[in-house]
Amino acid sequence: MRRILVCEQIAGAEMDALREEFDVVVDPQIWKDPAKLRQTVADFHAIMVRNQTQVDAALISAGSKLQVIARAGVGLDNIDCDKATEAGIVVVYAPEQNAISVAELALGMMLSLARMLPAADRSAKAGKWDRQRFMGGIELYGKTLGLVGFGRIGFLTAMRAKAMGMSIIAFDPQVSPDSITVTETQAKLLSLDEVLRQSDFVSCHVPETPRTVGLFNYQRFSQMKPTAFFINTSRGKVMDEAGLLQALNEKRIAGAALDVRAQEPPAGPLSEADNVLLTPHIGAFTNEGQNRVITCVCRDVAAVLRGEPAKNFFNFARPKRKVD
Ligand code: MLT
Repeated sequence: MRRILVCEQIAGAEMDALREEFDVVVDPQIWKDPAKLRQTVADFHAIMVRNQTQVDAALISAGSKLQVIARAGVGLDNIDCDKATEAGIVVVYAPEQNAISVAELALGMMLSLARMLPAADRSAKAGKWDRQRFMGGIELYGKTLGLVGFGRIGFLTAMRAKAMGMSIIAFDPQVSPDSITVTETQAKLLSLDEVLRQSDFVSCHVPETPRTVGLFNYQRFSQMKPTAFFINTSRGKVMDEAGLLQALNEKRIAGAALDVRAQEPPAGPLSEADNVLLTPHIGAFTNEGQNRVITCVCRDVAAVLRGEPAKNFFNFARPKRKVD
């Protein structure tokens, strides 16, 4: 019987369906012990992970029976895809299935920052009725949203922001001016410098790659308007946290909302100030988004283990290695 090792919390009806056909072992804490994980993986034909498990070259080499690595999400930054490809192992993931959830969180963060919702909530729950303190909120209507990264999540965020009466500007060298993404949102494609200069809200939607790590540093934050807000629902390593903190402390920007951190879990909150909103990487964590993600990857894992082609793969649809 083919064996599947689930290294993080992944559950639901499609996982139950996998159990009827395969030997599924769920050990949601194993990612914390890489040596144990390397030892364990040798007996498995598939592993399923979220973003905490580092599927690096050493783990892939230890997985001598692996046929498929499944990432329950869109970001592949924790998978050594080159090594998996070289080893002939299929990498499957969920490229679009949680995009709406992330876009909705980005919009929610903009509204929360604009109206100081977390601080107002804390204040009202503390028994205060301090209306004057929350004077000075702003409307999203009429404001400019700058998207850095204009792929699927950027596009869905732009569509929602347009419905709020915002105008859209974007930086993404891979998006062409005549693409549907641009025509549907009536976005203006600009340089990164211009997007930072002109936006009232900058929302980051780039993957973590060697080119994007540290993209948002103190210099870049300083290019933003002092009234502008920074939102990051993509990856923590694309921003320099010390640079962000400095920009916040010097009031070079008005505030920030972060769903992601350079290190997860982080050593501590970046700031406890009211103009900084922090969430623990929950962008994809809606019932709907998770159902779609888990269904997508479970079906592909089952397909590969049955000898059928995967649908949502990064490298190839079938493994290029033979195992017992
Ligand atoms: C993703 O990459 O799909 C999201 O950031 C959620 C996750 O990492 O699990």
